[in-house]
Amino acid sequence: MTHPSLRPLLAVALVALPAVALSQAAPRSVWDGVYTAAQVQRGAAVYAAHCASCHGDALGGNDQAPALAGGGFLANWNGQTAAALFTRIKTTMPLDNPNSLGAAKVADVEAMILSKNGFPAGSADLPSDSGALGTIAITQDKPGA
Ligand code: HEC
Repeated sequence: MTHPSLRPLLAVALVALPAVALSQAAPRSVWDGVYTAAQVQRGAAVYAAHCASCHGDALGGNDQAPALAGGGFLANWNGQTAAALFTRIKTTMPLDNPNSLGAAKVADVEAMILSKNGFPAGSADLPSDSGALGTIAITQDKPGA
């Protein structure tokens, strides 16, 4: 008999294990084509409506809001996962209305940001669940390059 108090732990382990196994079997990074061009177009519309007023039309930032493309931005996120950036956007942005965008819109705008930072498009959309996003590393330099 499973002790009732162990059940939440067990559930966490069962959810976490496949993600770990996947990331070990197939380590992926933003260099592997983790979003689609169509998604970037959707993300650009989200960005224009909810982000550009502070971060600038070209993601260059302004006096108050930081740039979302370029060396400074990439240095902040280098070594983190696409899930971390997703959570940062979803739970803290737009600064004046956090948590107002659904997961799909956040994934779309993240795809657009990745595209503006020079990472390549691929054949599948950037996912909008943190398990899958957690297997994608943000690496400033192309691995092996
Ligand atoms: C009202 C102004 C405002 C809006 C709108 C806004 N941001 Fe921000 N954003 C900021 C400010 C200011 C910071 C830095 C301070 C902070 O994080 O609270 C920031 C920080 C960030 C960061 C962290 C940057 C880094 O280098 O770590 C990301 C990512 C980001 N914003 C994405 C977005 C996205 C995507 C949107 C649209 C969905 C958005 N922001 C909308 C003002 C804004």
